[in-house]
Amino acid sequence: MRISVIGTGYVGLVTGTCLAETGNEVVCVDINEQKVQKMRNGEVPIYEPHLDVLFDRNIKAGRLTFSTSLEEGLEHGEIIFLALPTPEDEDGSADLSYVLGVADDIGKRITEYKVIVDKSTVPVGTAEKVQEVIAKNAKCDFDVVSNPEFLREGFAVDDFLKPERIVVGSSSQRATELMEKLYKPFVRSGNPIIIMDEKSAELTKYAANSFLAAKITFMNEIANYCEKVGADVDKVRRGMGTDSRIGKRFLFPGIGYGGSCFPKDVKALHKSGKDVDYDFQILDSVIKVNQKQKTALLPKIKTYFDNDLDDKTFAVWGLAFKPETDDIREAPALYLIDELLNAGAKVKAFDPEAMDNVKRKYEDRIQFSKTMYEALDNTDALIICTEWSIFRTPDFKKIKDSLKENVIFDGRNLYDISDVEKEGVSYFSIGRKDIIL
Ligand code: UDX
Repeated sequence: MRISVIGTGYVGLVTGTCLAETGNEVVCVDINEQKVQKMRNGEVPIYEPHLDVLFDRNIKAGRLTFSTSLEEGLEHGEIIFLALPTPEDEDGSADLSYVLGVADDIGKRITEYKVIVDKSTVPVGTAEKVQEVIAKNAKCDFDVVSNPEFLREGFAVDDFLKPERIVVGSSSQRATELMEKLYKPFVRSGNPIIIMDEKSAELTKYAANSFLAAKITFMNEIANYCEKVGADVDKVRRGMGTDSRIGKRFLFPGIGYGGSCFPKDVKALHKSGKDVDYDFQILDSVIKVNQKQKTALLPKIKTYFDNDLDDKTFAVWGLAFKPETDDIREAPALYLIDELLNAGAKVKAFDPEAMDNVKRKYEDRIQFSKTMYEALDNTDALIICTEWSIFRTPDFKKIKDSLKENVIFDGRNLYDISDVEKEGVSYFSIGRKDIIL
């Protein structure tokens, strides 16, 4: 099939590349000329495992091409994916100006039947708005379909190629059949393509992300409570997670969720509730608890250092909002670093992928280290903010030899308490007992 993808951010790029992988002819359109030129030369503009291999293969096969011309994109695709940014407005709602702007262009330019697919996470009712905007000028038939993505950063290629489900919001038989044909190769395992109305599809995405954010937040509150009463959240997690109604995943407590999706989507759903006079009380709490959780290590650090962080230096392992990505949007590490700097402390940071992005934000306000161990030189304590695999089995001797204070503050519960105890390191984590030597 001929597919166009408008917008080559993380979602658009993964969508375009994976659709080319199943033999479709894909044109990806972006207004950023420099970026398009780089992609034409085979450069993947984001860090996403496995994407480079697929990117290269499909460009070489001529199935994946790039353009700065919306006109070219609209002419090429029978199905046109809109993968445009929907940034957070000041009031927490999603800004639809990019989506509706392109919809307006589509209405003016299309000359034959097209299926327009909303791939971006958009508020309930957006497909209807896109339909209206296109219809103002369109001189031919078209359908608008909602098809939310459920891609996790770091696993996006796998999630796209082997989805647990595909949600399609469509009220047109013709569009539904085209979408089913397009996605058939991805659901050979028997996983479903769930067809529903557009509004329900749009809400499915917000509900799924908000539920997961609430699940994590619930565990974070249980962890905080564990600390007060001397229970161990690791044990509680295992005990709870084996109940298949609850499930083992997304029960890991830590210093809060971040990223480009959960924070934005929870706020947007909360705000869209307000717009129709519905008060999402759970979401209100999720937002507040998560914000506080991002700096949950700070009181422990302050207490350990007698409330005097002035001129203390901290090694921070992990800057990305989670492992396997260079994305630092809403990353808890950055909130904690800001608090440390405000308290007069210095920071030496290491992350396997995200350092360039953080350098742009902090410039020389913090130091960056080439290796995780270099970050420990001349520092008072180690703080862990992201659970990269490389941090899971460190050389504790090196840590002890380098740190002035021989103490680890772990925001992701990477180590078994008993192991750290044996290593002879003071250790503070989330929802478990403190080890103070
Ligand atoms: C999420 C959704 O999973 C995906 O379906 C959607 O399309 C986009 O948003 P992503 O933001 O890439 O994906 O990350 P995810 O792996 O879901 O983690 C989100 C955040 O939750 C991270 O900050 C992570 O550290 C945190 N998290 C996750 C926890 O704190 N505990 C957990 O148990 C799981």
